[in-house]
Amino acid sequence: MQVLEQKPTNAESREWAVWVKGLTREYTTRNFFGGVTRSTWALSGIDFQIAYGELFGLIGPNGAGKTTTIKILTTLLTPTGGDALILGLDVRKDLYEIRRRIGIVFGGERGLYNRVSAVDNLRYFSDLYGVDPGVARKRIPQLLEVVGLAGREKERVEKYSRGMKQRLHIAKALVHDPELIFLDEPTIGLDPAGARDIRNMVRDLKAQGKTILLTTHYMFEAEELCQRVGVISKGKIVALDTPSELKNMVRDISVIDLKTYGATMDYVEALRALPNVVRVVADLESEQQSIRIQTPLGADLLPKVVAALPEGAKIIDRTIKEPTLEDAYLRLVEE
Ligand SMILES: Nc1ncnc2c1ncn2[C@@H]1O[C@H](COP(=O)(O)OP(=O)(O)OP(=O)(O)O)[C@@H](O)[C@H]1O
Ligand SMILES: [Mg+2]
Repeated sequence: MQVLEQKPTNAESREWAVWVKGLTREYTTRNFFGGVTRSTWALSGIDFQIAYGELFGLIGPNGAGKTTTIKILTTLLTPTGGDALILGLDVRKDLYEIRRRIGIVFGGERGLYNRVSAVDNLRYFSDLYGVDPGVARKRIPQLLEVVGLAGREKERVEKYSRGMKQRLHIAKALVHDPELIFLDEPTIGLDPAGARDIRNMVRDLKAQGKTILLTTHYMFEAEELCQRVGVISKGKIVALDTPSELKNMVRDISVIDLKTYGATMDYVEALRALPNVVRVVADLESEQQSIRIQTPLGADLLPKVVAALPEGAKIIDRTIKEPTLEDAYLRLVEE
């Protein structure tokens, strides 16, 4: 594997909250004698940037490399090759400075002290981050309010539901008021209401001017929250754009379904001859005629479809299926 060794010396790289170039990561499994028995390239050269104040989504199937990327960017894992600057700092060299200025939320149960209360957890982590005790005293109740744990903060964490633990994870990631927040599948395993609350919190953080990198499996979540989305598959970024531009990539799968009366094969041929029509499949023999038109124009094609109708023929019903971000995503990750 070729490793990109372009050093981030230019000023441009420091204008971004996150700047990633040619990042690779190999995981190796060794046997008893120290020989490599298996090697997995979890990341094989990814590039992306996140602007200050941006909410950026990384979306991809299981094993795509999302968590590996977050672990490298948060200095929990060293890259095999390539470069990453976080707030202008180097993930290989400036570990402590980076950790001081970022917040990390991993989905799941680990990383909290279960035997003590939420408020004690937050005090502990404030201490750990060196937050001034006076500041912490004010901030902790505010955070408990923000994440909806106020009133339950004295209970032991082991009694918390999964959703409550996840809220506490978010509060914990915010005790030191970080500028940049990494959220690895923050809504995983939560019920719809719990997941919605977390999404609202993410929106509020963005409104406060925080920079956020969020990973998710849920297309609608990326579409709802993120300004730009990187689609990652098998360790590579296969597309990176705004949700609406990603959808445009699959405009050709817009489908117009017609139920017709009195349509003829000549009509079907006329439809096939229209500009921007990819495919027309027709069943004119059944009692209920059906015609399916695949076109990148979507509803914009309809006037021409109507104009081409022969004398006496009618469109009884029509449905238009516009592609969703899910369709774009599936096309990108399924080869
Ligand atoms: N500690 C490890 N040792 C060996 N291989 C690993 C290790 N951690 C991850 N991998 C492999 O690296 C690849 C990327 O994994 P990663 O956890 O980054 O994916 P992900 O996109 O976060 O997936 P998920 O959606 O399931 O969380 C996978 O093939 C995975 O099996
Ligand atoms: Mg993961």
